[in-house]
Amino acid sequence: MQLKVTLAAAMLALTTQATQIFSNKGTLAGWDATNQEHSGTVQEVTNVYYEGPTALKMTQVYDSSYTGRYHSEVVKNNVYKRGDTGFYGFMFRLQESWQTSPAQSYNIAQFIADFTDTGCDDWMPSSMVWLVGDQLYTRVKYGTICAQKITTFPNLATVSAGAWHKIEIQSSWKTDGTGYFKLWFDGTKVLEKYDINTTIEDDRAFQFRVGLYANGWHDDGGMKGTQGTRQIWYDEIAAGTVFADADPDQW
Ligand SMILES: *[C@@H]1O[C@H](CO)[C@@H](O)[C@H](O)[C@H]1NC(C)=O
Repeated sequence: MQLKVTLAAAMLALTTQATQIFSNKGTLAGWDATNQEHSGTVQEVTNVYYEGPTALKMTQVYDSSYTGRYHSEVVKNNVYKRGDTGFYGFMFRLQESWQTSPAQSYNIAQFIADFTDTGCDDWMPSSMVWLVGDQLYTRVKYGTICAQKITTFPNLATVSAGAWHKIEIQSSWKTDGTGYFKLWFDGTKVLEKYDINTTIEDDRAFQFRVGLYANGWHDDGGMKGTQGTRQIWYDEIAAGTVFADADPDQW
């Protein structure tokens, strides 16, 4: 008999090296905020899930007469500040008919903080995780809020539609060149970068958000392809603090 270990349980098993500060098993309860822009929705559903009885279903709907952004996200506040080391994980599933060509960007998770007071930006995402076609991308953002720099890590994995996939991130959030950023896809480490800057030179707390943010529709000035309704399910979302270099290869 195969032993089923859930992502959250596997993360909890890391007690000697890490502490889980947040976990959500696909429920609307427990978040600091929900962001549903325009016709987008965030729903708790019982018909699709990774681990029952529920998952979160994020939907966004394209509207050619709308010029705003397309977020359908849940928000957890205060998951990192500069100097922290953390882990972040979630399961996600694209609708079976998810159209990957022509390729356009769809963000699926992000770290973000409000920098309106600086006069240089408003809500500014540092790292994001997104899809371009069927390819998984992530990035780090560093420098100052008024002179932001981005390093993008493209083509990390091929994502299949209609199946559950697992994302795990471990990051040492630094601005002195000693940070690291690692990402696992379905348990395989697909990115590992050491001795880099991993966040903006600022000490405010960042949020962790998961959900569908159809950023390509806004940033490209319109939708590519013909699929104006997009759906992604989420389950087993977790975040925690790492006290030593805990490698999820052993989770
Ligand atoms: C990290 O940022 C610091 C401060 O801006 C800079 O001096 C340093 O060169 C950067 N290191 C790397 C590896 O980019």
